[in-house]
This record gives sequence, C-alpha cells and structure tokens, in this order.
Amino acid sequence: METIIVKSNEQGQLNKADLVQAGSIIRNGGLVAFPTETVYGIGANAIDEAAIVKIYEAKGRPSDNPLIMHISDINCLKDYALNISVKAQKLINVFWPGPLTMVFSKTDKVPSRITGGLKTVAIRMPRHQIARSIIHEARVPIAAPSANISGKPSPTRGYHVIADLFGKVDMIIDGGKTELGLESTVLDVTREVPCILRPGSITHTMLEEVVGKVSYDSHIKDERHPPKSPGMKYKHYAPKGQLKIISSDIEANVIKYINIEGKKLMDMGYKVGAVVPKHAANDINIKYVESIGSINNHTEIGSNLFKILRKMDDMNIDYIFSFEFKGEDVSIAIMNRLNKAAGYNIVNV
Ligand code: TXA
Ligand code: MG
Repeated sequence: METIIVKSNEQGQLNKADLVQAGSIIRNGGLVAFPTETVYGIGANAIDEAAIVKIYEAKGRPSDNPLIMHISDINCLKDYALNISVKAQKLINVFWPGPLTMVFSKTDKVPSRITGGLKTVAIRMPRHQIARSIIHEARVPIAAPSANISGKPSPTRGYHVIADLFGKVDMIIDGGKTELGLESTVLDVTREVPCILRPGSITHTMLEEVVGKVSYDSHIKDERHPPKSPGMKYKHYAPKGQLKIISSDIEANVIKYINIEGKKLMDMGYKVGAVVPKHAANDINIKYVESIGSINNHTEIGSNLFKILRKMDDMNIDYIFSFEFKGEDVSIAIMNRLNKAAGYNIVNV
C-alpha cells in the first residue's frame, strides 16, 4: 500500500488541505496514523466494521482487544454511551478534552468489532489540535489504538510510526514528539465507584478530587490478579533485549549492581544498555546509557520512556538494566509500563 506522509509545521499545525484529506480517508474506510497528546494513534472510521478490521490487521492485534472511540464533539457522546452518570459528567467537565478515556455502557450504534464483543465502549476526547481537527473533518468518530505493531512500545515520535506502519496505512501524520508519552488513563465509569483500568497522566488523586472515591483494578497493584481491561493481559511494550529493573532504597546499590553485572555481560560480548535518571548517568560504566530525565520530573520521565525502549531495540541491545521510578502520581503509570516491558523481571539489591 502507498503511504502518504505529511509533517506538521514548527507550530505543530497541519495545513487545511492535509486535514481535509485525512478526514476524507477516514470517512471512506481508510487508515490514518496521527498524533495525540499521549501517543500516536492509528485511526479508522469507528462506525465502519470493515475499516476497523483493517486496524487489527495493520497492527497484528488480537481481535478481542477493544479499541478506543475518539470524539471531538461532546454532543455526539450520547449517540454511543448509555447511562452517563453524574460522576462521569463531572469528569468530562474537568478532563475533556484530555488524556482520560472512560468506559461506558454502549449504544447499538457502536459496532461490536470495536468493543471486541463487550457491552461497553471506551471513549476519549483528545486535546491535541491535529487529532481534534481530523475527527472534526472526518465527521465520524475515530477508532484508534496506539499506532505501534502489537507488543511494541507505543509510538511517541513520528519516526516511530513510520518505522512500524509505513506501507500498512494510507496516511501518516508526523507531528513530532507527543507531549505526555504515556497512553491515556482508562477509567471504568459504569460502576458506582469508578475504577482505573489503566493508569496514566490523569492520576488517581486528580480523579478523586473531582468525584470522591476511585478504585484501581487489582491487577495494577498486583499483576497476579487478572486485569479487567482486555488489553492489559497481553505482553506489552516489550523491547527485544532482556529488560531487568533494579530495585533498592539505596541508590549506590543500584549503580553498583548495574556496573558489576553489566561488565560481566559486556565481557561475554553482549551489548548492554541502562536506563537511568539524569544525575546518575555519569556513574554508570556501561556502554549504552540513556538518561530518562530528572528523577523528580515524572512528566519528563514518562515522555521519554517509550522512546528509550525503542532506541534500545534500534541499537540491538541484548540486556537492559533500568532504575525504578517509584512514587505516586504519574509514576504509577510509568512503573506499570516499565514492569510490563520487563515482564516483571525485578531484582532487589
Ligand atoms: O492514549 C491512548 O489511549 C491512545 C491514543 C491513541 O488515544 N490509545 C491507546 O489505545 O492506547 P490502545 O488500543 O492501545 O489501548 C486501549 C486500552 C486497551 O487496554 C483496551 O483493552 C482498553 O483500552 N479498552 C478499550 N475498550 C475497553 C472496554 N470496553 N472495556 C475495558 N477496557 C477497554
Ligand atoms: Mg496500545
């Protein structure tokens, strides 16, 4: 398939003609990859079953893993979501447009292809200007999972999407770096106490400030519990190399472990990488050290995580050691993605 690539200008905008073309490709059943403030998405007309099937094919995604429906106009929410609760309405008022996806009971207008057969549908109104304009131009809601090949880290840069999807979609919009770099928070609002199915930049604390008690799917705190969100059960975000998280209350122990174990592997001829906070980069004596950001700037760490995991792949690193980035707020999301990428391969030192 021929893939059109268009790039946003320095202000992050796309010209009108490109937006109109993207919208028309989607409305007519094609696929367009586009940036949002979280990660890039691969979009199709959400009310066209044949178009949705193409998404699953392009990504190599299991068909029981449901997609998020993206809207740009709040007035069309009631066409797709039933029983919008007072709490959901409050969250919409505060966080939409933005990186919050909510799971509602679905109406009959939502094709079961998009929900993997579930009676619920996940809906998000992104705030990225290009995403909003494309949905507006398409004049239909857009089904869009992250624009990566299934199992790879989500794309946070235009070149990630081109690497994964060139030749598999009709159009790729390169909007540069995405702002947040972690996928949206997914919140089930079909129950009395809303439940976080996937942590993201809209944190538990932020949600509770608006609606009172919010729970976590038990899988997020303890991976031995099966997840309620179908997508969370698949091996995700996995780099090709073997990733290990080094955990300790004493930072010097982490540095020492990485230097000693890394050297052993390098002596055997392996390529070894490390993911470390900025201040520790100079203390690590192995070859491929990636600084992920300041230890206290979790937004920065979140926005660089997937880029670094992908870079390790591009360099064909065999073994990757990572610091732990623990804390509250967005670090819950960071550690959720990092733990999954590592397949819960964590060592305490
Ligand atoms: O930031 C994002 O959310 C990005 C951008 C493109 O919007 N999209 C994204 O989509 O990450 P995807 O398909 O990679 O992840 C969607 C997640 C999956 O874990 C899926 O299982 C869950 O949302 N999900 C979708 N519909 C659901 C439903 N009805 N019930 C429970 N979980 C659902
Ligand atoms: Mg995904």
